[in-house]
Amino acid sequence: MSGAGNLAAQSLFNTAAEAKITKLIRKMTLDEKIAVIHASSSFTSGGVKRLGIPEITTSDGPHGVRPEHGRDWVLDEGVDDAGTYLPTGNTLAATWNPTLGYAYGSVLGSEANYRSKDIILGPGINIIRSPLNGRNFEYLSEDPYLIAKMAVGYIKGVQDQGVSACVKHYAANNEEADRGTVNVLMSERALREIYLPGFKAAVQEGQVNSIMGSYNKFRGQHATHSAYLVNTILKGEWGFKGLLMSDWGSVHDTKEALLNGTDLEMGTDLVLMNSTVSQTASNGGKVHEDLYSQFFMADAAKAMVKNGSIKEAVIDEKVRRILRVMLKTHMLDGKRIKGVYNSKNHQATALKVAEEGIVLLKNEGGLLPLSAAGLKSVAVIGENATRENAMGGGSSQVKAKYEITPLEGLKNLLGKETPVKYAQGYKIALNQQADSALIQQAVTAARSADVAIIYCGWTHGYDYSKWDNNAYDAEGVDKPNLDMPFGQNELIKAVLEANPKTIVVLMGGGPIDISGWVDHAAAIVEGWYPGMEGGNALAKVLFGQVNPSGKLPMTFPKKLEDSPAHHLGEFPGKNGEVHYNEGIFVGYRYFDTFKVKPQYAFGHGLSYTTFTYSAMSVKRNGNAVTVKVKLKNSGSRAGAEVLQLYVKQNQTKIEKPEKELKAFRKIFLKAGEEQLVEFQLTADAFKYYDETQKGWLTAPGSFNIMLGSASDDIRGERTVL
Ligand code: BGC
Repeated sequence: MSGAGNLAAQSLFNTAAEAKITKLIRKMTLDEKIAVIHASSSFTSGGVKRLGIPEITTSDGPHGVRPEHGRDWVLDEGVDDAGTYLPTGNTLAATWNPTLGYAYGSVLGSEANYRSKDIILGPGINIIRSPLNGRNFEYLSEDPYLIAKMAVGYIKGVQDQGVSACVKHYAANNEEADRGTVNVLMSERALREIYLPGFKAAVQEGQVNSIMGSYNKFRGQHATHSAYLVNTILKGEWGFKGLLMSDWGSVHDTKEALLNGTDLEMGTDLVLMNSTVSQTASNGGKVHEDLYSQFFMADAAKAMVKNGSIKEAVIDEKVRRILRVMLKTHMLDGKRIKGVYNSKNHQATALKVAEEGIVLLKNEGGLLPLSAAGLKSVAVIGENATRENAMGGGSSQVKAKYEITPLEGLKNLLGKETPVKYAQGYKIALNQQADSALIQQAVTAARSADVAIIYCGWTHGYDYSKWDNNAYDAEGVDKPNLDMPFGQNELIKAVLEANPKTIVVLMGGGPIDISGWVDHAAAIVEGWYPGMEGGNALAKVLFGQVNPSGKLPMTFPKKLEDSPAHHLGEFPGKNGEVHYNEGIFVGYRYFDTFKVKPQYAFGHGLSYTTFTYSAMSVKRNGNAVTVKVKLKNSGSRAGAEVLQLYVKQNQTKIEKPEKELKAFRKIFLKAGEEQLVEFQLTADAFKYYDETQKGWLTAPGSFNIMLGSASDDIRGERTVL
């Protein structure tokens, strides 16, 4: 697996380029060098006009190019910045389709080019450790292998457009509320096996140009200038040759940042603007040029070079990394690709990702797919049916060219013939409890309709501009618990009682506690935040125009307490520290090993067709293993299956999870069609990180290869010695 072994250093920068860079650095004055290693506005770094070195323009973010800001972070008006809003990270990961990762990245790269952005601040690949993390919606998975595969596709997609991706947030940024101060403490094994493989794959397989250091501390030092994370691992062991920029305001110490590998300081203007000093300043806290000279890596850095406490070569090395990225992305010769904005193709990618990412969680008695023919009326219930999400959640906000809500999607599909009756059902508002009048309206609508569809779950909060504790899926906050807010449980129970033909569609950034009514609902769908075409994709899935093929990229626990971070570890941290006592037992690694039954398992996702697996053949060839299986679509419609290959080690003294994902393939088959599917596992798939030896080892003992349709639906198991 990508987490193991020591691949060659990044190979993307060549000798000729290095010579050119050396020449350029020689021409630069100290002031000019300092100018390029910190921000010059909220999203640019300094350039050197005299030498033709441009500013770097960065932009969020993971699922679309962010709207334009002024220097004071106020959104610009009257600019053409409404673009493609892609489904968020969870949806992309739920496709289990790396080809779509590439397509997704291509859209971002192309639109970034059109908007003259040099670096896209994404993908966000932090491990989904607790379901409460407010930023889970941006992230991909609880599993490092799935993250690695999806992120590499995404990065290549962006970078093949000549724009840099920026993988974030390095590393261990798994909670939001205290993200700037919390000191994360975990075992070395957990770090190596769970929290780092995605980043390592981004560097070595994805050849990513830039990485963003995170806000939190790691073992006592801020991650952005952690000697261990940045110098030892990222730039040392992994051979990263690109630039490490800070998160916005994550630098806290000039000397540490200079010596421990921070190449570009961004966002400290935010910190300065919020500080008492600048708020009481005569300019009323407004940003002006001076602010940028107050960055840790500005005047203070220059002074350190001047007084001899830092060698100028340290600054040169940062400038070199920045220039490498500029050279590689044609920022110095102006040969940029033009880019395309809002094309039909981009919208089609947004639709495709949503269609493949939506997960059919439950479908008892074949309630789904619905058939439009003969359907006399549909009741649509819930504020999430009409809610737009593009501008929600924090820095990942996108001004969407348009956003098809679930209700609009249904109307698009059904046309005028089938009446759709909408009832709000609940109100997204601060401290809102169940509203009996709204529930009554919903019950009446459900009772008089052939079928009812409830769109419920999480939201990006009641007010996009406030990232407070009622925001649920948003940056800077964590969810208070897993309970459905706004009295939705009462609503859902009442509607299920009124009409058993009720479909529940969950929206949002992952698990929510549905234990109060799950047994009474025949059909449940996970819709995530499915982007600008999300409403169309949802309607197509519900009515069978698209056969669902998404699989959960994270475990849905029954109860919050069942989650490993809450049961064995801590979440959130206390007194400035958080201990990841669950170690490597994150997500399904915990549920399977500790025999805790989840609501829905990692990798789970149903289809409208059925797939049959032949007996698999497993052949060992030295350290590698080849697995072959015939997959047949044994049902009556075309569909796709994600074959998931897990490895389990038998009889070992080393603590190992019950099983770990080591390969997967998504296979599309017509009804009745059959295909031979082959997997190649290398020696890395069988290794663990040994803390004493400080390296990847294979423990003695046999292994089981498990192949299945979900982590809890294994269709074949064989032992390899
Ligand atoms: C976020 C980053 C984002 C940056 C710039 C920070 O608050 O953590 O993910 O890229 O702001 O908007």
